[in-house]
Amino acid sequence: MTATASTAPTIKNTAGKNELPPHLNENLLTPRFYTTEFEKAAKTDLNIAPEDFEAIFKEMEADYNLKHFDRKASLDRLNELSPSDKAVYESYLVRSVISEFSGFLLFKEISNRFKKAGRQELGQFFQFLSRDEARHAGFLARALKSEGINVDLPNLGKKRAAQFFPLSWVLYSLYLSEKIGYWRYILINRHLKANPDKACAPLFDFFEPWCQDENRHGDCINMLMRCWPGMTKGFRGKMLSRFFLWTVFLTHTLTVCERGDFYKLLGIDPVLFDEEVIIQTNHTSRNAFPWVYKFEDGKFLKMRMEILDAFRKWRESSGLKKPVALTKFISLLLKQFSLPMEKTSAMRYG
Ligand SMILES: [Fe+2]
Ligand SMILES: [Fe+2]
Repeated sequence: MTATASTAPTIKNTAGKNELPPHLNENLLTPRFYTTEFEKAAKTDLNIAPEDFEAIFKEMEADYNLKHFDRKASLDRLNELSPSDKAVYESYLVRSVISEFSGFLLFKEISNRFKKAGRQELGQFFQFLSRDEARHAGFLARALKSEGINVDLPNLGKKRAAQFFPLSWVLYSLYLSEKIGYWRYILINRHLKANPDKACAPLFDFFEPWCQDENRHGDCINMLMRCWPGMTKGFRGKMLSRFFLWTVFLTHTLTVCERGDFYKLLGIDPVLFDEEVIIQTNHTSRNAFPWVYKFEDGKFLKMRMEILDAFRKWRESSGLKKPVALTKFISLLLKQFSLPMEKTSAMRYG
């Protein structure tokens, strides 16, 4: 999960000017690229779950959203948005396009590696995944273009540097990123259907089938996890579940609550949104992970606010107060990380 900071030429306004709008000068372009144990991945034994593979392969092959992302659809922004709201919307678009494009690059790389290793069926499978992410990224890039902002995606791909992670880490984190992506899109979609006056851009009309793509991607990764039963067994399975759930939830809380402007623009309370996304993603993960966090006592969710507060205090403190604030922040992180988990009945093979 390397964050590759890229620089100015990757993004510019289409008028050809070099100077960027102030809200895009921040380092938004931080795609994540990983590389993994491709040789081990090529040994994936699909005979462990042949029916699961066939079913999800057929679903991906059906390409339900082939015609959904209408290339001619108007993505023009509504003129009623104030300049500050437009800036918030554009920052969201840039972060999203980078994240979708990173997914495309990763899946494409995995697809190529599988094909080279003679695993044509898995190569084709990941080609379906990369097809969807390319479509998502392309659609967002079009929305940005209608804002007069051009993101040079192919160039961004060339600049990437990847960091190595074990296969199990990649599968756990991919599963979560797809499922949390699903919940984020579907919850925004539900909110905007109930509050149509808040749907400030036509882009949001496309969210529902879009989120079903992410949901299917999560199911694809779950199928692969089932083909590696050792990853979800015993202490290792528990630690991997704990680490990835906690990391993804913490990152979500810090990102959503610290950059709450976008959610407020849509009339969504970022704290409540973050909480709902975490609850739902934790629940969904019961289908794939051997352990998930226990939320019934409310401790995990309550601690998000304490952590956020400690994080802000640490960031704003100076001098001798800084290490004290950092210690408090870290101790809260450790406390939340160690909160009780519960075993799931995720179906396993082997
Ligand atoms: Fe996507
Ligand atoms: Fe996806």
